[in-house]
Amino acid sequence: MQIITEPREMQAISEKLRLNRQLIGVVMTMGALHEGHLSLVRLARETAGIVILTLFVNPRQFGANEDLHRYPRPFEQDIALAKAAGVDYLFAPEASGIYPETFQTSLVCGTLADKFEGALRQGHFNGVATVVAKLLNITKPHIAVFGEKDAQQLAIIRRLVADLNIDVTIVGAPIVREENGLAVSSRNIYLTSGERSNASILCQGLQHAGTCIALNRRDLSAIAAEVDAMVRSVQGFIPDYVSFVDEETFEPADNAEQGREYRMIMAVRAGSVRLLDNAKFLCR
Ligand code: PAF
Repeated sequence: MQIITEPREMQAISEKLRLNRQLIGVVMTMGALHEGHLSLVRLARETAGIVILTLFVNPRQFGANEDLHRYPRPFEQDIALAKAAGVDYLFAPEASGIYPETFQTSLVCGTLADKFEGALRQGHFNGVATVVAKLLNITKPHIAVFGEKDAQQLAIIRRLVADLNIDVTIVGAPIVREENGLAVSSRNIYLTSGERSNASILCQGLQHAGTCIALNRRDLSAIAAEVDAMVRSVQGFIPDYVSFVDEETFEPADNAEQGREYRMIMAVRAGSVRLLDNAKFLCR
């Protein structure tokens, strides 16, 4: 595995790989790699001959009161995990390489980024979209794999690629869960052991929603309110939102139409950590 830090060098390598007709897959991360990221690498590997993993803690997607400075950065461990997972190139630029002093141009997302995570984290998705566009231009992949855990981010990236005619296929990868159902995340290390075991309530909430829908209930907002109450019943767990949404637009859905798919999304504050989870349901 080669470690590249200079955007120009990465671009030159990718250009050469493309000329040699290699299929490039990219997995973008902020490091602190875990089983979720490794599953993205495996999925990229299924299609692509060359896998590039980007590792960059993007300052522009953190709000002023967020955890940029305490975000975990176990670089040596990340190198070992990426290598063991079969990554070909690890692109780990400096912040000054991505945002030199001359940097001025940023992307502004539309209404898709105003709701849910976007409403609670001002400017977050503009920061994500800008860095994702830059990393696509630097790594020049044929496919880019993103986790479904960050479902709104994935929808925004699909929109970005379509709106800006970027020639890449975006692949969504299923959520990887711990044994108790907690979706794996780099921030889970901040949970106390009590919070970690109580965090199974999110997954139980999604299961409850699945049972309701299987029983042909159509009242999505009532089901979401039940799941919200389930989560709230755990001491110290405060939902920021629990809602069914349209998969593409992230417009909230109150009642189900037959034959349509909806995603239940939730964000929950558990002590000092925000947990995200979601699942897709087909209403028969
Ligand atoms: O999902 C993440 O880890 C980040 O938002 C991403 C896509 C790597 C952009 O910084």
